[in-house]
Amino acid sequence: MTQAGSDYAWPHRDLLGLEDLSVQDIRFLLTTAHGFEDVSTRSIKKVPALRGRVVVNLFFEDSTRTRSSFTLAASRLSADILELTGKGSSVSKGETLTDTARNIEAMGVDLIVCRHSHSGAAKHLAHAVNCSVINAGDGQHEHPTQGLLDIYTLCKRWDLMDTMDLTGKSVAIVGDIAHSRVARSNIHGLIKLGAKVILVGPPTLCPRSFESLGCEVSHNLDDVLPRIDAINMLRIQFERMTSQFFPSVREYAKIFGLTGKRITKAKPELLVMHPGPINRGVELDAAVADGPQSTILEQVTHGLAVRMAGMFLCLNRQSNPTS
Ligand code: CP
Repeated sequence: MTQAGSDYAWPHRDLLGLEDLSVQDIRFLLTTAHGFEDVSTRSIKKVPALRGRVVVNLFFEDSTRTRSSFTLAASRLSADILELTGKGSSVSKGETLTDTARNIEAMGVDLIVCRHSHSGAAKHLAHAVNCSVINAGDGQHEHPTQGLLDIYTLCKRWDLMDTMDLTGKSVAIVGDIAHSRVARSNIHGLIKLGAKVILVGPPTLCPRSFESLGCEVSHNLDDVLPRIDAINMLRIQFERMTSQFFPSVREYAKIFGLTGKRITKAKPELLVMHPGPINRGVELDAAVADGPQSTILEQVTHGLAVRMAGMFLCLNRQSNPTS
């Protein structure tokens, strides 16, 4: 897949993480997504781009947004889509991830979209099969399409779709950085496109070791708020916590929650993001989540175009792929 007037051609069979993508890859994918965006606004919400291709959603963890977004994206591209979850499949009888994937591939599948609780599961799958694999979130590692749709939303809001150059913009990512695949994908993507990334949270969830990725680390949200252009409020992932990382949810919300009162310390044009699902009253209060600065539902809308682009490009890579 090449872009008119450019030598660039999408080389990747799989989409496993933003750490693996170049700046050109990211810009090309987001430009492709931009081209797909209007499909969702037409009365006939379908193009034949993947007609005859078969996509499997293989989800071993719960999901509302990502799974339905991939399903709709595949359908809008006219692909056939099969839904498999851990509960209803032979995984519940002890079948391994590799065996499950190879059996699915044996039915002529072109692309597996995988969500799994283990970091590295998508990469493991990509080594086991010959078809394309898209990572829909693997443990605490990456959630590349979430990172891409977040960046797409920022580029659109800041009218930067032409350049996708985020130099001069500062983005805070707040909360449970240590357990967050969304944070990792955003960090890699935002830094590659030139943004300054400030990670904010308690030391137990936001350790200084993240400075090695090129981020600033702060434990004081009120200090950071006046100097940022966007804030991505992460969900506290109670299900991934093996010990107590802060004294109480109430105390966490008091120090790191974004309330209607606290947001007045920020620039009036601050954009407020959240990947969902929201713990209302913890990361965000309702006035902020549903307020004019929130981009939360725009993020969900943009997820469709970004996932259409990811699927389309992985299934139409250039013939001499590097991965
Ligand atoms: N943002 C996100 O991954 O949401 P789901 O868990 O609902 O897919």
